[in-house]
Amino acid sequence: MKDILTAPFVEEMRKTTANMYRLGWDERNGGNISLMLEEREAAEYLDLNDPVRILPLGFDAMPVAGRIFIVTGTGRYFKNVDADPETNLGIVRISQDGRAAELLWGYRDGGTFTSEFPAHLMSHMARLSVDPLNRVIMHSHPTCTLAMNYVHELDEKKLTHTLWEMCTECIVVFPDGVGVLPWMLCGTNSIGEATAEKMKEFRLVIWAMHGIYGAGRTMDEAFGLIETVEKAAQVYMLTSHLPRINTIRDEQLKELAEHFGVNYRRDFLNLS
Ligand code: 13P
Ligand code: ZN
Repeated sequence: MKDILTAPFVEEMRKTTANMYRLGWDERNGGNISLMLEEREAAEYLDLNDPVRILPLGFDAMPVAGRIFIVTGTGRYFKNVDADPETNLGIVRISQDGRAAELLWGYRDGGTFTSEFPAHLMSHMARLSVDPLNRVIMHSHPTCTLAMNYVHELDEKKLTHTLWEMCTECIVVFPDGVGVLPWMLCGTNSIGEATAEKMKEFRLVIWAMHGIYGAGRTMDEAFGLIETVEKAAQVYMLTSHLPRINTIRDEQLKELAEHFGVNYRRDFLNLS
């Protein structure tokens, strides 16, 4: 059995959480990440027949029964993951009845998975139903994205349109746009269900006045989506109080999407 601390997926979680912390997106215990693992890659490092603890889920995760995830722990600080992955991360396998998570490694001090695990697992289920290669769900509190929530209408079309206008590459990076949920109580099955519903259509979902969810086939994809929204939101926050002299016009956004061959939300543009 290989040393789990040398596993590429542990390394990826350590690097990503440290990076997000340094970007100022994940203060204190803010944010959470789940990455789905292949059974054969997990089996190189762990005895899959010897769960440490059984953690009830409180919802039905049958579509991902038997799937294995590495996921950040609740109350854990992203800034601390790198120094102590075994306390701050856990690896769980969803039980055959879809009602519990079998802890295979981690949460060493008796901890458990993120309070947003319902939103993560339900989002995994939703993304897998439209993209069988999806592996990552990421939640974060990026500063400018959050700031923009207070001063911009929280309408999916209007918000996506504004973000697309802020950087030339936005429509190419997230042609599917950004879904938006109204303010809701976090850490609940209800916000999980609402997020998952949006995730069938969008890889990015904003939780009003809270943060953002990103989904992807790789950590880079999920991270890159959030990073690009945050950059656009930063440009918006730096310019929205100033007179706007120039902009990227809708015809130009269309030209970009067509040139790069992306399937964009035509209904989010105002074309004649
Ligand atoms: P956890 O500490 O449970 O992961 O919660 C952090 C968070 O961002 C809640 O939305
Ligand atoms: Zn949060």
